[in-house]
Amino acid sequence: MAGVLGGLPEAVLQFTYLVAAVLFIQGLRDMTHPRTATRGNATSAGGMFLAVLVTVLWFEILSPVVLAAGLLVGGAVGVWLAVSVETTEMPQLVGLFNGFGGGASALVAGAELIDVLGTGTQLSVGLTTTAAIAGIIGSVTFWGSLVAAGKLHGVVGDSPVSPNAGHALKGLFLLLAVLAGLFLIVRPDIFGQPPVTPWLPSYWVLVAAASVLGVFLVVPIGGADMPVVIALLNSYSGLAAATTGFVLDNTVLIIAGTLVGASGLILTVIMCDSMNRSLRNVLFGGLGGETESEDMDEIYEGQITETSPEEVVMLMETTQRVVIVPGYGMAVAQAQHAVAELVGLLDENGVDVEFGIHPVAGRMPGHMNALLAEADVPYEKMRELEEVNPTFSQTDLVIVTGANDVVNPKANTDDSSPIAGMPVLNVSEARSVVVNKRSLSPGFSGIPNPLFAKDNASMLFGDAKESMQALVNHYKEETS
Ligand code: TAP
Repeated sequence: MAGVLGGLPEAVLQFTYLVAAVLFIQGLRDMTHPRTATRGNATSAGGMFLAVLVTVLWFEILSPVVLAAGLLVGGAVGVWLAVSVETTEMPQLVGLFNGFGGGASALVAGAELIDVLGTGTQLSVGLTTTAAIAGIIGSVTFWGSLVAAGKLHGVVGDSPVSPNAGHALKGLFLLLAVLAGLFLIVRPDIFGQPPVTPWLPSYWVLVAAASVLGVFLVVPIGGADMPVVIALLNSYSGLAAATTGFVLDNTVLIIAGTLVGASGLILTVIMCDSMNRSLRNVLFGGLGGETESEDMDEIYEGQITETSPEEVVMLMETTQRVVIVPGYGMAVAQAQHAVAELVGLLDENGVDVEFGIHPVAGRMPGHMNALLAEADVPYEKMRELEEVNPTFSQTDLVIVTGANDVVNPKANTDDSSPIAGMPVLNVSEARSVVVNKRSLSPGFSGIPNPLFAKDNASMLFGDAKESMQALVNHYKEETS
């Protein structure tokens, strides 16, 4: 049925979709730099708003009241989630959004099959094939994302199923989903023809089997690898949307889905490369996470030098160049504003101060850059790993705050360590290193860090925000 704009030539609809696609692409381009990222987000959202608006006005999809209610409720939940969620919980939120995207694709593909059957038309092979693919990928994405978000949030535990049994179950449910899909393609007439209610059981068997597959795919993966899994599921949600675009013959959905699919995959590869892990290893290998307490005692016993904010300020007063390395703990403590204030003070006193930012510092891509940008740290001060590593030998002082794995020299020296081969920030090449964290506990990878025991390193124990604020206060006292 045609909507308000339905009387206009088809070219108007396609042109509007083209404009929306250009806005998506421009938005993605802007998102490649922190300075333009906010604008990029708004540009892409504007493209999506335009695409939704023209689709709603072109086709009479639902009664205006139902549509408005859906937009209001969905929009309100989205705004509430985005505003209330902590920055450190952002990966879970992204996981949920991916899941909803995948689930919507599976439901829309099924609804389209039922809709076409309702008009008494035979289902074409093209339609059933694309619907089957969208149903499988969408359902895997929905359930996989729920499990991933639950794991990150600590409400879903590890799999009680042994790895081999897990692989067998995954194979079984994949086979079941594919068989149901083939059945849907080859015999769409079974149960689906009027006057029998067109409920297409083969499609829903496919959805059920793919849902169980989604759970079994993600449950065995360690919580530590969930951010990578979420990036991969992001890519799946794009693929599901693009395939649903073929089901509906909707160009803008195909374009948007393909962009999400491709960018999610690129992000997954970047994250794997930064951790020196293969995707296969992330999906089927699993990462330690166990604390090697014996090893820790061996490394730290009698080797740890503790320092105080007063001593660190004394060091700061004699330095020409300082590099600050932030990590997950800075995010948890929300210490970015205190860190930014410290940087401002050092700057005022003529100290050359920069940040060394590891690509996987924190728990999501760009985590540190986003936090520091929120605290108005100039982008020019944020140096990437490759840029900052050669400068450590000419650096007087490195302040590591809330980071651990990204400065762990074991990555370079211990082939058996879970982070072996991961590029790290070689902070011990600086004259002095101060590591600020609350204890000697390990980071994300669960392994000890020999940096803490180095001769030129000292530990400033304490919460990152309190410690950075203490440095600010003492530095002000000393320099005023
Ligand atoms: P981690 O190695 O996880 O270490 C963070 C440290 O912060 C902990 O050792 C903890 O020690 C400390 N900490 C926690 N709360 C604190 C607080 N309130 N104040 C001060 N310190 C606090 O962090 P990282 O160096 O940023 O490395 C990131 C890790 O996450 C890497 O292993 C990376 O592979 C992994 N990872 C990252 C991503 C992305 S995309 N960023 C994705 C997947 C995995 P205490 O408990 O002693 O304070």
